[in-house]
Amino acid sequence: MDDQEIYSIVGEDGFTRLTAAFYRQIPNDDILGPMYPAEDLAGAEERLRGFLVFRFGGPQRYLETRGHPRLRMRHNPFPIDLAARNRWMELMTNALMETALPAEVNAALWEFFNGVATFMINRQETNS
Ligand code: HEM
Repeated sequence: MDDQEIYSIVGEDGFTRLTAAFYRQIPNDDILGPMYPAEDLAGAEERLRGFLVFRFGGPQRYLETRGHPRLRMRHNPFPIDLAARNRWMELMTNALMETALPAEVNAALWEFFNGVATFMINRQETNS
């Protein structure tokens, strides 16, 4: 399933619902909550939403406002070890379930997130 096909099925509406379902879980999360800007969660939600819309071939709002994603570099300030990566995927998996997209699109998005999430790991596991 190619990117355009994914976007044509999910659309702005699907990505809006997905990112809302993801960010709704952030404030109460013990690992991820402290990493995200409490005073600008709506902005963070919009950045992820805009990125996904652009990445899957929709309007390029994200590029116009944020420039090239450079995701690894932009995540470097945040301590992302395996536990944080796995928690992020857990919350995104919950969000995907809640959004209830067609099975094929759901699987393609999960694979995409899973790969990028591993790529974002930038710290060794701390032994605590
Ligand atoms: C692996 C665990 C991850 C952690 C702990 C994490 C954490 C964060 C945090 C704390 C921010 C800053 C929020 C903001 O103010 O925008 C952020 C931004 C962002 N994240 Fe992640 N993230 C993870 C994985 C991912 C993945 C898998 C993707 C995409 C598939 C992604 C896409 C983004 C985007 C697009 C932004 C906004 C970048 C910008 O324009 O500044 N993140 N992330």
